[in-house]
Amino acid sequence: MSVVYLNGDYLEEKDACVSVLDRGFIFGDGVYEVIPAYGGHLFRLEQHLQRLSDSLTGIRLENPLTNTEWTEIIETVVKRNGGNSDQSIYLQVTRGAAKRDHAFPEKIYQTVFVMSSPMHAVSSEKLANGVSAITHEDIRWRYCHIKSIALLPNTLMRQAARDAGADEAILNRDEKITEGAASNVFIVKDGTIITPPKDDCLLPGITRDLILEIARDAGLSCCETDITQEQLHNADEIWLSSSTKEILPVTQLDGNPVGDGTPGKHWQDMLARYQEHKKLLRSGDAQ
Ligand code: PDD
Repeated sequence: MSVVYLNGDYLEEKDACVSVLDRGFIFGDGVYEVIPAYGGHLFRLEQHLQRLSDSLTGIRLENPLTNTEWTEIIETVVKRNGGNSDQSIYLQVTRGAAKRDHAFPEKIYQTVFVMSSPMHAVSSEKLANGVSAITHEDIRWRYCHIKSIALLPNTLMRQAARDAGADEAILNRDEKITEGAASNVFIVKDGTIITPPKDDCLLPGITRDLILEIARDAGLSCCETDITQEQLHNADEIWLSSSTKEILPVTQLDGNPVGDGTPGKHWQDMLARYQEHKKLLRSGDAQ
């Protein structure tokens, strides 16, 4: 049994219902967050709530709750779903139910939904062998910094990867790499860790930012700069990052090996540092 939060109530998932006129259902008019909880400790909650607030501002929707209220609700959902187990928290805010009209309704009652799923560690097979990716034209709109629930382009591109027997689609717009269908992208070239700079072409990933923070703190060579398709194809290493998958090494790109076709030494080093950070988080000494 899974307990969810919906508009003020904690309910069993099967009892939680929203109106068919909800603008999230009708227009994809809403935003979301995915927040890991390790051993009951929320990962970078402050940063996730800040990005939620930025996404809401981006779609001109008032934040229905204060950060204190969000924290209380998310912590309650974590507790009600097993407390200390590793969980992935999904939260969503939509512009609520109203008569179908593209323009905003006069009175808005946001729909607020929070759920939790068990979070499983990435398989040892994926960590040992890496994952595969295809390149794909970025077919999304121009506000990709907003974590919108309207994910049809992302699902189409992820499915294109799946159809090609790959795990992820790495997207390019105007020859530049933006990100993955549901991840940020890093390359390593001659020992430097490189990721595209934040702008409206990509989601400002919380995991991405932590990787850069760890790299800078450790004095590793890293930079935020554009990556061309050619640089991607000639990279020594390619990594994908996201809250749920952490840092994955891409060892096959469009059917060709990346570097020597095995997870690279820079990825191994960064993953070890990332796991160290998680250990601190679990003991309450990091966020
Ligand atoms: N997605 N870019 C896109 C398009 C994403 O959907 C995600 C994550 C990321 C990585 O962001 P973060 O490190 O904050 O998770 C980048 C989540 C996990 C999802 O939609 O399930």
